[in-house]
Amino acid sequence: SKKTLGLALILQLLQLFLVSGSLHRSQFPDSFLFGTATSAYQIEGAWLEGNKSLTIWDVFSHLPGKITDGSNGDVADDHYHRYLEDVKMMHSLGINAYRFSISWSRILPRGRFGGINTEGVEFYNNIINALLSKGIQPVVTICHFDLPQELQDRYGAWLSSEIQEDFGYFAEVCFKEFGDRVKYWITINEPNLILKFGYVTGGYPPARCSQPFGNCTSGDSTREPYIAAHNCILSHAIAVDIYKSNYQMKQGGVIGLVLNSRWYEPLRNISDDYIAAQRALAFDLGWFLDPVILGDYPTEMREILGSKLPTFTSEDRKKLRHKIDFIGINHYTTHYVQDCIFSHCELDKYNGNALVFASGEMNGQLIGPRTPIKSMYVVPYGIEKMIMYFKERYNNTPMYITENGLGQKNSNDTSKDDMVNDTDRINFIHDYLSYVVKAMRRGADVRGYFVWSLMDSFEWLYGYTVRFGLFYVDWATLKRTPKLSAKWYQEFLAGQRMLQ
Ligand code: NOJ
Repeated sequence: SKKTLGLALILQLLQLFLVSGSLHRSQFPDSFLFGTATSAYQIEGAWLEGNKSLTIWDVFSHLPGKITDGSNGDVADDHYHRYLEDVKMMHSLGINAYRFSISWSRILPRGRFGGINTEGVEFYNNIINALLSKGIQPVVTICHFDLPQELQDRYGAWLSSEIQEDFGYFAEVCFKEFGDRVKYWITINEPNLILKFGYVTGGYPPARCSQPFGNCTSGDSTREPYIAAHNCILSHAIAVDIYKSNYQMKQGGVIGLVLNSRWYEPLRNISDDYIAAQRALAFDLGWFLDPVILGDYPTEMREILGSKLPTFTSEDRKKLRHKIDFIGINHYTTHYVQDCIFSHCELDKYNGNALVFASGEMNGQLIGPRTPIKSMYVVPYGIEKMIMYFKERYNNTPMYITENGLGQKNSNDTSKDDMVNDTDRINFIHDYLSYVVKAMRRGADVRGYFVWSLMDSFEWLYGYTVRFGLFYVDWATLKRTPKLSAKWYQEFLAGQRMLQ
């Protein structure tokens, strides 16, 4: 009857109003992966146990003056011994996926120059099995910054084409040992960041750079980042080739690459800045994604860098013949971009003085509230723009938000309560997720979202002074305590309507 029809319409409108005004699990498909992310060096500890060899981060963090608080990952969260407790913790959140990385030095302590370490294999088998027994899909990063020091010492790791063989070998061991149960593979985490910090600013190992880019005693920042990137791209390509040729059909998984995906927003509403932002995106993200999806470096890079940019030989192109199955997006922040080629301003010293200056503080104009990490600003709309950019440029290749989250500063005058009552993190996740929903409504193929991070951990140069976890970790006892954000995530995943 008319009456029931009218009532149904009102109910439907009411539901639409409620759903559109708030965040709800039902705005994402059932198959959507909701998880948390971590990496081996940041949580495992046990740096000298289980026949593991030293990684470049073990060696680097022990050098005086490198890490803010003089700390290292020797113990970290002691996840190596507490992984069962940690899997229980994940289960309590109700997540259906967990992203973690495999320590190369635990599996192949000497790279391809030695044997497979069965203790390392067993450790990851135990984690994978524990996850699956709780209905949590393992999403595995093959290399997350930490590679065996021996490969660095022997041939300079990413700077040498030899790394391609080593990486391919390592990846294949992973597929063989774990691929029957692991269905989501990530080859390399944030190669764009590794190269910037490792070969331009010199802040990360192997700490190579040259003036005026940074203060190192070795390196050539006008060339080395591009050579190292070339080897990263081809190492990735070899792993993808091995997986797609010999394992994918049998094992039925997918493989992708994760980039540190910062959004670049034009500072002024003028075409020079708009073009500059496109240039910045090409130099930062297209640098890797164009070769692995479109087959070559971006035009902007080829034009500006000329012979400093390596070219892909026909041999290389064979390695690149398979495309990635998904783009992994680590998104935290947005920066302004001002053109410095046609307008007068200080050039960004990176990329041979050719690129634009990109900053969150351009001309005193803040793009959003600052977080404890110097270059990170809270700009939720940036994630929608980032996703839509990838959608357009890469023909809607499936995407996973492989990291998103907020760091809290843990100074001497902050208490545990300050850290545990993390409403700022709840707002951050809520707001960013809401913009992910907007991108999906505009047709973007986003298939998963991972909070960085499950628990507080070793935050690289910041040591233990910045906390990203949903769980608080007491560094003296290593006890884990859920923060308010853990409760929030759990309620959201359980299907509650999240207004905040
Ligand atoms: C990205 C990196 O992959 C991860 O290791 C790091 O801890 C987070 N960003 C936060 O800075």
